[in-house]
Amino acid sequence: MPNIPHSRLSFGKPFAQAAQQVIQSGFLAQGDVTTALTHTLQTQLSGQAVLAVDSGTSALMLAIRALSKGKKGARVGIPAYACASLLFAVKNAGATPVFMDCTTNLTLDAEQAHTTTKDLDILVLVHPFGMIEPLVREQFNCPVIEDIAQSAGAIWQGKAVGTFTDVCIGSLYATKPWGGAYGGFISSKHVDLIQSVTKMTNPDQADLQQDYVGHHQLSNIHAAVAQVRLSRADAEQQQRQTWTNRYHALLNNDAVTPICGIQGNHFRYIIRSEKTAADVIQTLQQQGINAMRPVQQPLHHATPDTNCPQADKAWQYCVSLPLLHDMNEQEFSLLSQGLATCFKP
Ligand SMILES: Cc1ncc(COP(=O)(O)O)c(C=O)c1O
Repeated sequence: MPNIPHSRLSFGKPFAQAAQQVIQSGFLAQGDVTTALTHTLQTQLSGQAVLAVDSGTSALMLAIRALSKGKKGARVGIPAYACASLLFAVKNAGATPVFMDCTTNLTLDAEQAHTTTKDLDILVLVHPFGMIEPLVREQFNCPVIEDIAQSAGAIWQGKAVGTFTDVCIGSLYATKPWGGAYGGFISSKHVDLIQSVTKMTNPDQADLQQDYVGHHQLSNIHAAVAQVRLSRADAEQQQRQTWTNRYHALLNNDAVTPICGIQGNHFRYIIRSEKTAADVIQTLQQQGINAMRPVQQPLHHATPDTNCPQADKAWQYCVSLPLLHDMNEQEFSLLSQGLATCFKP
């Protein structure tokens, strides 16, 4: 039986050539290829200053460190229904996570966000699963980090995501819209912020009095692969949009609700139904369809007695279906049959 993966990476000849060129140059670590990628990212992010780093998690940790300016235990608001990297970035920055609940659309609850931010030092707003988090347009009492790991490339209200708030972070991990192998980036219109983050990324050149420095530079070899992926990102996004429209037509019934917030990048196709996610995933997997939970575990479970009921419900009932840019008709027909079996009246 054919097997439809949740993510499928198609790294062909141009990727191999780009990596080979770096190997032949003899400069696999820092160098010109990373600088060239930085310029590409800068163009994508409307000319903001950019620093490429080793992962999205490091990018977030470094941005929190720079914005909290050494304040121990700084309170950082993060969505409860999000990737675990957010929680660990906060912890690794020596800060304290404050969990924020979502709505049924999986973006943040605006009222709770405005109330909670009165006591926050930093707020992290994630554009989740390719959708837009509209709160990025609003004013808060603390610095805001816009996380574009899952929505990079999206344009909203004529602006690129990542350019709405004080600073943005993104991921260059393979499965992400701008992914190569591993990597991440920080971007801001405040050049001094990027400079202070840069000082934390190279121990060999660091001021020994600094509280924190680690090896966080993005290597030439990783940058080379990400650069090729970026050159295809728009085309892949359009292809995923086509499959998204096909899913919408297919799931136009009462049994399933597609999560349709403000669409940005069509990175994931997420559904909610009355059946539990565990049941849906098992039924689809039996038919060779690798659906997954959009989030492996709600983050507020890290702290006892924290309540985020909508995040818990999302974990229980939401499922991410394969949304592959290079999906074919045979695969889509298998998906259609699988969904029909799963949600038959
Ligand atoms: C929303 C979000 N932010 C940040 C990250 C961290 O990125 P990386 O995997 O490059 O460390 C992820 C990773 O899955 C993510 O989904």
